[in-house]
Amino acid sequence: MRKKIVAGNWKMNTLPSEGAELAKNVVANRQEVCSCVNFIVCPPFTHLSMVAEQLKGSDVALGAQDCATETKGAYTGEISAQMIAELGCKYVILGHSERRQYYGETSETLNKKMAQAYANNLTPIYCVGENLEEREAEKHFDVVKAQLEEVIFNLTEEQFANLVIAYEPVWAIGTGKTATADQAQEIHAYIRKVLAEKFGAAAQECPILYGGSCKPANAAEIFAKEDVDGGLIGGAALKAEDFLAIGKGFAK
Ligand code: PGA
Repeated sequence: MRKKIVAGNWKMNTLPSEGAELAKNVVANRQEVCSCVNFIVCPPFTHLSMVAEQLKGSDVALGAQDCATETKGAYTGEISAQMIAELGCKYVILGHSERRQYYGETSETLNKKMAQAYANNLTPIYCVGENLEEREAEKHFDVVKAQLEEVIFNLTEEQFANLVIAYEPVWAIGTGKTATADQAQEIHAYIRKVLAEKFGAAAQECPILYGGSCKPANAAEIFAKEDVDGGLIGGAALKAEDFLAIGKGFAK
């Protein structure tokens, strides 16, 4: 049985105090949702210690939205994987489309970040997904395959066993447009097939999350699909009530 995961990517939203309040509300109402659902919150770096404080004693896990390619040293403005691990992070989102698009992240930088994450016992939530142009040209399978081959195929079997994939069609992120449940299933199954070519049966254990305008109203339909193991949630993760309600979308 694969893990069921609902991860909140807060992006550059909330002030630290507001983030602490949001985390507090998630923890306070978490018991409304099956304990079989693994909740993760990924606030901005500046909020991590305050949010960690709120999560203490709960089963809601902490993640960061990125980490540096290097271990430490003269890299002004960067935050290392070791730093976020010490603050209590268990997960780190890597390769989000906004990082690829606005900050020039490539497979080369992501390979280094993945190595940093594993060296610090963090589980990467590695994002893949095509943009609208690529989808319309029916290149989405090729784009996603390349994003997997260039980074995930470099992992050892042990590292692969400690990985979450998030499929996020760029055209659905923050746009209110969602992939249909069938579109999500089609590409999730494809991702699993590509992973199986390299990692065999272990691909059956890898959680693959859907991201892109996932909300309480559509989560159940998407999560009902065989190869969808949860969601990476942006906008709807900023309200504890909506974030938790998404977790109620698991019927299986
Ligand atoms: P969204 O963002 O839910 O606001 O579309 C998802 C994501 O980018 O992680």
